[in-house]
Amino acid sequence: MSFVSDRKPGHQPVLKRELVELIDLSQSDMVIDATFGFGGHAAEVLERLGTEAKLIGFERDPEVFSRIPEFFRADERVGLYNSSYCEMGRICKENSVDAIYFDLGICSYHLDRAGRGFSYRYLTDPLDLRFCSKEGQPASALLNAAAPDRLLSIFGRFGELRFLKPIVRSICERRPLDTVEDLKKAVEAVVPPHMINREMARALQALRIEVNRELEQLRESLEMATRLLVSGGRLAVISFHSLEDRIVKHYFRSLEEDCICPPELPACACDAEKVADVVTQSPVTPGKEEVSVNPRSRSAKLRAVRMS
Ligand SMILES: C[S@@+](CC[C@H](N)C(=O)[O-])C[C@H]1O[C@@H](n2cnc3c(N)ncnc32)[C@H](O)[C@@H]1O
Repeated sequence: MSFVSDRKPGHQPVLKRELVELIDLSQSDMVIDATFGFGGHAAEVLERLGTEAKLIGFERDPEVFSRIPEFFRADERVGLYNSSYCEMGRICKENSVDAIYFDLGICSYHLDRAGRGFSYRYLTDPLDLRFCSKEGQPASALLNAAAPDRLLSIFGRFGELRFLKPIVRSICERRPLDTVEDLKKAVEAVVPPHMINREMARALQALRIEVNRELEQLRESLEMATRLLVSGGRLAVISFHSLEDRIVKHYFRSLEEDCICPPELPACACDAEKVADVVTQSPVTPGKEEVSVNPRSRSAKLRAVRMS
């Protein structure tokens, strides 16, 4: 049976072949898919695993989780958890996993479906932007209560808005903001027409990152992932914006360091040991063909390490 052909639309997996090559699977491997989504990568991984193998999948969003194709649940090798990948340390033992991969961010499903404010196209959506409505507060609560300095920091760091100060001022003047349309009006008032969609997309991205604590969760979980992996285990991450990629790149580089002494010390005095080798010296990116079929793949970057 082909897993891929049975898949309902919801997301087109990015850099699938490249990811599967880098995690270099063996028939009986224990694998974690940290961001299961609609299982596009998992389907390809399962094709390469034997009957003794195990694939654990995490999906934080209950709506996406409930839409995972049935054949994954029927596969005895697969264990699915409707929780953040932060939980992987509770489910799996240290030194027990052969390969872990993350495909960060949102699915096409989030952008193409009205309801939670993930896309600037759905103006009547509430500004919620949480993956799970039981966790944290909706973006509107943050937007309406935060001091201007905090908004400057969120939109500046996580959205890199070009019209940062005017947009934050405009938001503060118009509060309370409850819908995507309310936010768009605040942006439209201070941004030239050709930049509105860009600034809206970046503003929503910034709010999403903040309400879901995406970057903190990524940092914590990369460290956890390296503890779960066996010697020779593989860790791969696909990221979609520079903030995530920077975290992955620096963390992976730190795993290669075998000395963390300050440079002014004449001789090494630390017990640091190299933990892993980076196997992608520069990130793997989608080719022209993939981008033409799936333009949303264009910003993807894939990096991987192999544990010592
Ligand atoms: C880019 S999609 C993954 C797509 C998947 N690889 C596929 O081929 O269908 C990212 C998914 O991760 C989920 N997600 C985001 N943050 C998460 C987290 N902290 N833990 C688990 N899942 C998360 C999102 O809800 C989304 O479904």
